[in-house]
Amino acid sequence: MGSALLSNDLFLRACRRERLDRPPIWIMRQAGRYMPEYQEIRKKTTFLGLCKTPELAAQATLLPIDLLGLDAAILFSDILIPVEAMGLDLEFTEHKGPRFSNPVRTDADIDRLVVPEARKATGFVADAVRLINKRLDGRVPLLGFSGSPFTLATYMVEGETSKEFTRVKRMIFGNPRGYRSLMEKVTRTVIDYLEMQIEAGIHAYQLFDTWAGSLCAEHYREYALPYTQEVVRALSRHKIPSILYVNGTCALLDDMNRAGTDVLSIDWRLPLERAIPRVSEDKVLQGNLDPVVLLTTRNALESEVKRIMSGVGSRPGFIFNLGHGILPETPVEMARHLVNIVQNGLA
Ligand code: CP3
Repeated sequence: MGSALLSNDLFLRACRRERLDRPPIWIMRQAGRYMPEYQEIRKKTTFLGLCKTPELAAQATLLPIDLLGLDAAILFSDILIPVEAMGLDLEFTEHKGPRFSNPVRTDADIDRLVVPEARKATGFVADAVRLINKRLDGRVPLLGFSGSPFTLATYMVEGETSKEFTRVKRMIFGNPRGYRSLMEKVTRTVIDYLEMQIEAGIHAYQLFDTWAGSLCAEHYREYALPYTQEVVRALSRHKIPSILYVNGTCALLDDMNRAGTDVLSIDWRLPLERAIPRVSEDKVLQGNLDPVVLLTTRNALESEVKRIMSGVGSRPGFIFNLGHGILPETPVEMARHLVNIVQNGLA
């Protein structure tokens, strides 16, 4: 579906750097535990069950559109879905997040990994995309997503969310050939997975490189960026906007310019007026409210929104978002107020 068929195409116009009266807004993790209506859907099944049932995934995707009126929808799923299809046993534990019981540590583990055929192994995601678009009926564009190859590899090797990333870094430096062959398999998986989403009808995609910030700039350039570039290059023929999100942007922003995506999504640590001189003129910026501000007061939120807007100034190509996912303890009223002041201005 082209943007001509959308009743609200502000997001796609921002991706093309058109001059707009206001920026579009969407929120990372916009369908999540902070919403009582999400908790209701979630009661029906496990988190993975939710991701794998198109009807429920569609309901979750639509919630923030119906309740908050955001300018873009994002497919409800998880970055680890295609990794499970590569042959890892995935489990989501309450409070501790994702866990693999058979993480990738040795060459034999790497050899055993399959590059799944996305349509066969994860066809439920394509079904969800089609169902969501039907229900959206052109109201707003739908974003698809994937983890970037590096961030997926961190989960595969560590086996869970990590703080120090010792195991994956030990593989990078201690077994570089093994690391390369792991990354090659992950990259092929990501490309096929996103091609499936594109074919099913997403209007744009975001690559989440949540843990790239654990690398120094040199190592990012050497061990993470090339695989992101390969994904973007492989998908460029589809001509839909692409977004790269990195948590830990500050050290990596100069190199992120070379990823090939249209949009760079940055965390909250770098004020936009300091980010702008470091990004190419043709890049759109997305960000970057500190999610914690939504746990404070309306006054604090308003002054942070003002600060972000004045940091952007008159530069075309800006999408309002948070610097990372919305926190489960966020009051829905604060999320609604954020959307309202970005869309209608401050009184
Ligand atoms: O943005 C959206 O609303 C789309 C849905 C989405 C989810 N996860 C839903 C989710 C997206 C885009 C993701 C991506 C994702 N998943 C990332 C990258 C983005 C980021 O936040 O950095 C990562 C690192 C993951 C892996 C993951 N999934 C973790 C670490 C966790 C546990 C987090 C926690 O707060 O417990 C998840 C679970 C998860 N993914 C939930 C949701 C709504 C909560 C699951 C539940 O209902 O219990």
